[in-house]
Amino acid sequence: MVGLGPKRRPSRRGSMTDVPQDLLEQIKHFEEVFTVDSTKLKQVVDHFVKELEKGLSVKGGNIPMNVTWVMGFPDGHEKGTFLALDMGGTNLRVCEITLTDEKGGFDIIQSKYRMPEELKTGTAEELWEYTVDCVEQFIQHHHQNEKLSSLPLGFTFSYPATQEYIDHGILQRWTKGFDIDGVEGEDVVPPLEKCFRDRGLPIKVAALINDTTGTLIASSYTDSAMKIGCIFGTGVNAAYMEDAGSIPKLAHMNLPPDMPVAINCEYGAFDNGHIVLPLTKYDHIIDRDSPRPGQQAFEKMTAGLYLGEIFRLALVDLLDSRPGLIFAGQDHTLIRTPYLLDSSFPAAIEEDPYENLQETADLVQSKLKLTATSSELEMMRRLAELIGTRAARLSACGVAAICKKKNIESCHVGADGSVFTKYPHFKARGAQALREILDWAPTDKDKVTIHAAEDGSGVGAALIAALTIKRVRAGNLAGIRNAKDMQAFC
Ligand code: BGC
Repeated sequence: MVGLGPKRRPSRRGSMTDVPQDLLEQIKHFEEVFTVDSTKLKQVVDHFVKELEKGLSVKGGNIPMNVTWVMGFPDGHEKGTFLALDMGGTNLRVCEITLTDEKGGFDIIQSKYRMPEELKTGTAEELWEYTVDCVEQFIQHHHQNEKLSSLPLGFTFSYPATQEYIDHGILQRWTKGFDIDGVEGEDVVPPLEKCFRDRGLPIKVAALINDTTGTLIASSYTDSAMKIGCIFGTGVNAAYMEDAGSIPKLAHMNLPPDMPVAINCEYGAFDNGHIVLPLTKYDHIIDRDSPRPGQQAFEKMTAGLYLGEIFRLALVDLLDSRPGLIFAGQDHTLIRTPYLLDSSFPAAIEEDPYENLQETADLVQSKLKLTATSSELEMMRRLAELIGTRAARLSACGVAAICKKKNIESCHVGADGSVFTKYPHFKARGAQALREILDWAPTDKDKVTIHAAEDGSGVGAALIAALTIKRVRAGNLAGIRNAKDMQAFC
């Protein structure tokens, strides 16, 4: 909606001068609890490095550091046609990717399906049936009346999974608000393949992939300086390539110590013990009221699923602790609805181009049915900035921790996810935090830089399926469960 007020001046310093003293004090309080200074960032990173190491140990720790059995990067000469199924959280996407003869080239066709909200807390059967419905619809649409030969599938399942093999994955726990009975602790590949068989679809899961691993592989396909794949979206996480010799929990397999193995960190679980993260009371409420309290501590402070909710909880706190201070005499029913606001709400406030915050006023009116004064608008603007800045600065800690652990001085990081691509200033704030954490000289250019990734759960998944099939053909069968079956599909 187009606002009425004049466009904003470049700097908003001084715009708080009209805000009454008691509201200013509350803003100051928000600044204190949400600001993460350099010293704290460094403490977080130091602890992060230790937790990454611990996750690779036999005993394990908070961060799962899941072995993915993706062993090495593509060389750009991978070929073939693959299906990719992406079960990420918000949408389900089905793609058909052809890796072409041209080095690094590919063609892609794809369809997106909304993941119905009720499915996220439904039954396992409903989940798999719906998923296969989407795949079937895709096939019918794109291959009507064709007799299909077998198709290998890269299944991007973006939840923590224990993989003894690449074509296998036991869900450790649901994240991102999912809570479907009967899937945790189970291998997710057999029920999916059974549904394919029941429908007569000639599809075989060649690889189960995390979105971060897909991002790492897809990005490195076009840029060899890419060392880390990250998702800053509904959930958060990263993957990187480790040497088998630095993974104590794989020691029993006697792999060559310099053999590369991609690790899906699952670092949304960083600091589940609440040792170092600067948690506010809002973070504690989010955790307490989530389907999995005690899990995903880092994710709950930084991921898109939670940023709007943190914002809402802070406002509700003001309503309760200082009655009459904000939205006096109005009906506060709507704002008390959990998860009413997603991260697009604070993002839109940060993007409001008008000096009088007209777009924010319109948004608050339409979404919360509240009429905000100019002081309340200023307060919300500051709150949105604080929550977005905290998320970006903490997000940088995960990247910095992997760099420190691997002694990486400089590299490219491939990133994807709605917060990375859409949240205003996220990239610049993250880059600034990396600067502070990694102590680059003021004259140094950024050494670790975060870039928009290639399509990890589409192209990345296809590449990983191709790499797996290549390994089967070469007889390099480490981490492949069903090599015979797969050969039949090659
Ligand atoms: C999941 C990860 C995933 C991340 C980003 C987290 O909640 O546990 O597997 O990579 O979200 O999608």
